[in-house]
Order: sequence, then C-alpha cells, then structure tokens
Amino acid sequence: MRADLLVRNVGRLLTMSDGAVPRIGEEMRATGEIAGGALAASGGEIVAVGPERDVVDSVELAPGGMELDAGGSLVTPGLVDPHTHAVFARTRENEFAMRVAGRSYEEIAEAGGGIRSSVRAVREISEDGLVESGRRTLDAMLAYGTTTAEVKSGYGLSTQSELKMLRAIRRLGGEHDVRLVPTFLGAHEFPDEWREDREGYVSLIVDEMIPAVASESLAAYCDVFCEEGVFTVEQSRRILTAGRSAGLEPKLHADELHPYGAAELAAELGARSADHLVRVSDEGVAALARAGVAAVLLPGTSLSLGGTSYAPARKLVEAGVPVALATDCNPGSSMTESMQIVMALASMAMRMTPEEVLCASTVNAAWACGVEGVSGTLEPGRSCDLVIWDVQDPRAIPYHYGVNLVRQVVVGGRPVLGGS
Ligand code: NIG
Ligand code: FE
Repeated sequence: MRADLLVRNVGRLLTMSDGAVPRIGEEMRATGEIAGGALAASGGEIVAVGPERDVVDSVELAPGGMELDAGGSLVTPGLVDPHTHAVFARTRENEFAMRVAGRSYEEIAEAGGGIRSSVRAVREISEDGLVESGRRTLDAMLAYGTTTAEVKSGYGLSTQSELKMLRAIRRLGGEHDVRLVPTFLGAHEFPDEWREDREGYVSLIVDEMIPAVASESLAAYCDVFCEEGVFTVEQSRRILTAGRSAGLEPKLHADELHPYGAAELAAELGARSADHLVRVSDEGVAALARAGVAAVLLPGTSLSLGGTSYAPARKLVEAGVPVALATDCNPGSSMTESMQIVMALASMAMRMTPEEVLCASTVNAAWACGVEGVSGTLEPGRSCDLVIWDVQDPRAIPYHYGVNLVRQVVVGGRPVLGGS
C-alpha cells in the first residue's frame, strides 16, 4: 500500500476507535491504545494504524513522502471543539472587570452589555474584518491542538448581519487549516429593535433568516439560547422545528442559568446536542439519555463566570448521556481558544477521568458536531488529523494545566504546526 505520510516511533497511540459512536458510560474510558504504534496516510486519509512493525511492513512511502518521528511521545486524534462563538468583532474585557467587581452576567446583559454589545460591534464591522479577527482566533485554536471547530453566528441578529457572519465563517472554513462546522444562532438574544416585540423577532427568524441561510447552504445546525429571560421553550421549539424543515439540525444552549426544561426540549426534538446544562434537572438528564442527545459541557464558561457552578458531568456520564467538551470560545463568558484548559477543568472541577476527558474532546466531540465520519478517531478512512504531544502519558493532559503541551499538529495528512 502506498502512503505519503508515515508517523512512527509513537510511544502511545490513542486511536479512540474502540466501540460505538458516540461513547456512553464505561465505554467513554476506552482509548483504543496501541503501544509502540505507527500510522500511515495517503491523500490526507489514514490508510494504516497499528504496531509500528505491521504498519511499516504494509506500506511503501511514495517518493517525496514524509516521515514524522514522534520521538516516543503520545499521539491522539486532533481535538474537536464542538461549541464556539469564535467569530466576533471585539473583545469585552471591560465587562470582565465589572464581573470581577461583583456585577452578574445577567445584570450586565440587562444594562445593554453582554451579547448585545457584541452585536453592535458585528453590525459595524465588514465581512473582511470578521474574517481577519476570526483567523487570529483559529490560529490560536490550532496551536492548542484543535483541528475541527463548530462556529456559531449569533452576534448579527438581523438577516443581513447573520448572513455576514455565516459568510465570514464559510470563507474561514475554506482558507484555514482548522475544519469548521457552521451553526446558525439567530436566536442568541433579542436585539434592541425587537425587545418590545419578541414574537415578531421569532417570526423574522422563522420566515426570513432560516430560509435565507438554507438557500445559501450556510449552516449545518440551528441553535437557540433557550433560557429564562431569553427564548422560551415554546419559541425555541418553533425556531428549531422550522430550522429542521429547512435542513438545519437542532442544537440548544440549554439550562445554563436556570433549570428551564431546555434539555427536555432537546430530547423531544432529537437534537444533536444540548449544551451548558449547569442547571439541568434530573428529568432533563434522563430525557437526554433516552434520546441519545449529546451533552456538550463548557467548564471554561463556569470558571469565567465565577467558578462556583459546573455541569453535573458525573451524573450525565453515569446516566448514559454521551458527554462532549467544548471551549464556548466567546468574548463574553469564555475567552479561551484552548481545549487543553477545558480538559483540565473537566477533570479538576467536574471529576471526569482523564480517559473520559479525551473521549469527550475527540470522538464524542466529533459526534456532537456531526463530523464523526471524518475526524475524532485514528482509523483507516478518517482524515489524518492528529496531535503529537510533548508528553508520554495521556493523564498529563488534564494534569499539567495552563501551558501548551502540543508539539506538532497534522491536518489532512499535512503537518500544519510545530516540528522542524
Ligand atoms: O454560550 N450563553 C449564551 N451565549 C454565550 C455567551 C455569549 C456572550 O456573552 O457573548 C455562551 O456562553
Ligand atoms: Fe455558547
């Protein structure tokens, strides 16, 4: 078999390819480890994975092919970040300082800050400006090992500005090494001009925005911030049902600040994921498990908003909900591009084991944003997206926090970062 990339001398190769996708319960601890492994790729796709001898014997490196020596280190699939707001116009450190001084996220939002201040900034900036700032954010994600990211609109909140955001996301997906999954989030907040006519804004989303997004095929998912004071369960159901009819799969910002029945709605609709879930009820947990909806947990947001309340990760894992992790990278409630800090928090603050954390950041994260057939595991037929780490033991990833442990990143069989 011909290959144009051979990665050898891997101390521990975690393929993450054992068992059904998504992983639930005990299966979340299976890492599909191969000790002393190697991996070969051709045309960007993995063609062989296994013990080094077997792989080397079965493949022939094409002339001009590349060999990467992992130096006995750990290799995992590229990290997948299934919930981000990585395209925005301006950061909001002013609000961060207000929160540190004691104001709550909700108070700041009520006073015209929060999401609505990001909306003002996005409405003013050009599509080119959004692409430029998004590029810097994606560069940082890649440097920390993320090879696929879901990215939401939701800072435009008018048809024109939502389309501007989604077109910027499409351009970034075409030019950047990080693979992008676009989500339409017109229901992120009520913009100033519709605050007195909320049903009118819901109708604008359903009758105008969703058809416009679908006609340009600008998004794979439709998301709603279903929360007390924002979109009600009824309004969320209406929007997500319209999105589904137009070919956009449902996702929800669910039960972040109050138990609100949003997880139950995600289950009722058979959504791909319910995200946040800090205040999910026991009924919500059971409903997610029954419906097989992914729980995307965002402990970076919990830390950034004061560090007192985290989603009940253990309860969700033990109930058989497929759990994934994400940064929620956004200028308001989680200003980080690093899945590594999220992985550390998942262990430290939510007691997920290092193996569960890896599963939740690769194979289950891929499932949570619909790229499970492409990335998230290292097996023949998948894109060759991987990270060569500076550590040998996978437990070191959540343990050694606050520094970048990535040595080299490969996307589509091409080294895109690190190495010499
Ligand atoms: O996922 N919860 C709602 N949306 C974002 C916050 C966005 C912002 O504050 O700009 C989140 O945390
Ligand atoms: Fe979010």
